[in-house]
Amino acid sequence: MLLSIESSCDDSSIAITEIESLKLLFHKKISQNEEHSKYGGVVPELASRLHIEALPNILQNSSSFFKNIKAVAVTNTPGLSVTLLEGVAMAKALSISLNVPLIAVNHLKGHIYSLFIETKARFPFLTLLISGGHSQLIEVNNWNSFNVVISTLDDSLGESFDKVAKMLGLSYPGGAIIESLALNGDSYKYDFPVPLAYSSQIAFSFSGLKNSVRLAISKETVIDDEVRRNISASFQRVATEHLVMQLKRYLKTNKNRYPWLGIVGGVSANLYIRAKLTDLLTSFNMELFAPDIQYCSDNGAMIGRFGIELFNNKIFASLEDLKIMSRANLTN
Ligand code: KG4
Ligand code: ZN
Repeated sequence: MLLSIESSCDDSSIAITEIESLKLLFHKKISQNEEHSKYGGVVPELASRLHIEALPNILQNSSSFFKNIKAVAVTNTPGLSVTLLEGVAMAKALSISLNVPLIAVNHLKGHIYSLFIETKARFPFLTLLISGGHSQLIEVNNWNSFNVVISTLDDSLGESFDKVAKMLGLSYPGGAIIESLALNGDSYKYDFPVPLAYSSQIAFSFSGLKNSVRLAISKETVIDDEVRRNISASFQRVATEHLVMQLKRYLKTNKNRYPWLGIVGGVSANLYIRAKLTDLLTSFNMELFAPDIQYCSDNGAMIGRFGIELFNNKIFASLEDLKIMSRANLTN
């Protein structure tokens, strides 16, 4: 069995996966949303202190599996330094006490492998990573080959959802709140311009849309629930139109190369986005796959799933070499 630890931001999570069958035997996650909500975003120092309480608690619940653990995998990049350190310190201590090797997992690859929790990976495919930190379209041609073909010029999609929520006086993280408010809003009430619609550039960009939202809010005399619903619906529609437009541009020049697209990362939990992407892919004869909602946001199961690929390929990290890195891309 593989024990895996995730602590790159504000979720403390540990999973235990059976290496051969890929079966998830144990998975627990403690989120810190409520604690950070008061401050309108993640406070790294507070996150670190909360991990120190949560991780040992979760670990204790998994102790019956310790005798069968063959390796310990941990997120070492990218993320907040002070929170990555908590998971890595725990992983190193476990590696010494259980006398098993360490595996360093890139959080972004973990998100991509959330598509394969309890199932075998199949290649090639395209994946759209849309989270709080990233917005990228990636070609995945084999188990460890990730080619970023579209990235963002400025903000990530998740961050934009969170900023819009903040502007509307909603709590953090705002993505799921915006999605549910949008259900009863008029998505054409505000005609925000679709970013890069009049340029041929194939890239993501959300800062202009965020500014349009800010301007629209400043013109309202009162921010009541109706305004919140309509802004949420209009923002979500335009952000999604932008995603779909850029994907379509990419797919037009890369026809029939990939049979399916997987969406991963916190924002991939959004059902409106899933539906619009499904419509687009159908016209290209492609299928959409998405993880179970519980595996979209940060979790230990996805770290374990990519950890198993590294284990099977005998890619281990030594106690001395396993370092944290706050920034990384898919080549790390
Ligand atoms: O993947 P994740 O948990 O953390 C990072 O690695 O960044 O993603 C968190 C992001 C937040 O910005 C959150 O607002 C967004 O995912 N999110 C959503 C939804 N659920 C979470 N955004 C839109 N719709 C949702 N339903
Ligand atoms: Zn993440």
